[in-house]
Amino acid sequence: MGTLKGKVALVTGGSRGIGAAIARRLAHEGAAVAITYAASPVKAAEVVHGIEAAGGRALAVRADSADAEAVRSAVVQTVKTFGRLDVLVNNAGVATLAALEELSLAEFDRLMAVNVRGLFAATQAAVRHMGEGGRIINIGSTSSDGALFPGMAVYAATKAAVAGLTRGWARDLGPRGITVNNVQPGPVDTDMNPADGPLAAGLKGQIAVQRYGQGDEVASMVAYLAGPEGAFVTGAHLKIDGGLTA
Ligand SMILES: NC(=O)c1ccc[n+]([C@@H]2O[C@H](COP(=O)([O-])OP(=O)(O)OC[C@H]3O[C@@H](n4cnc5c(N)ncnc54)[C@H](OP(=O)(O)O)[C@@H]3O)[C@@H](O)[C@H]2O)c1
Repeated sequence: MGTLKGKVALVTGGSRGIGAAIARRLAHEGAAVAITYAASPVKAAEVVHGIEAAGGRALAVRADSADAEAVRSAVVQTVKTFGRLDVLVNNAGVATLAALEELSLAEFDRLMAVNVRGLFAATQAAVRHMGEGGRIINIGSTSSDGALFPGMAVYAATKAAVAGLTRGWARDLGPRGITVNNVQPGPVDTDMNPADGPLAAGLKGQIAVQRYGQGDEVASMVAYLAGPEGAFVTGAHLKIDGGLTA
């Protein structure tokens, strides 16, 4: 506890699910935490109030990741409010599963805009404020390395793009003392992929530990990467999937 005292973090898509768990954990470690949200202002406010009630500092900013200007503005608001920016967690993401013939171009564009373009815009804006010790943590997915069932192609492609950006940025930003990593969850129990949802029955049997992960478990890996102990880890693709891909 306290590994992020004095640091400032921005978590995109922090109103629910994995992002909310990451925001709470980074705050628990002492960071002031800003979160973005698009459609869930009440949930975003609950995350902020929870952090404040525990003695931390937090801010929620509405910023649809598909809107690059809104994302840039969220970075600026974070720096204005908390004075600096040390950690960016690119977590906001959407998933649509559909057969090739059924996924519209508009939906293709939305997946790319939120999962890839928004992540690019956030990182580009954030690194302007980061110095030695900065951390970019992308939330990718195991699906970038293997599509386990039909209908995942475009989602998987967005997460493959995240993996590629991680590699390139690790090289670009390493000389500035900024690390860039790709955390790749397997099935995690959230609104996107509920442990009692339609995908669960097929997935559980393939997970070595035979259960879904929890947002808090992903948040632990993010806290490690964000903290001083993670300083020599960069350009890494870290699976946290209960052995789904073992
Ligand atoms: N759950 C899994 O099994 C799993 C596995 C591998 C990877 N992931 C990845 O983990 C990340 C989080 O997933 P999750 O399971 O926590 O999903 P979730 O439960 O659906 O939550 C998604 C979060 O992202 C936000 N968000 C969605 N669209 C947004 C947009 N256009 N702009 C800004 N924020 C947006 C949501 O906020 P609002 O409600 O306010 O829009 C919410 O806070 C995603 O990148 C996902 O691809 C999830």
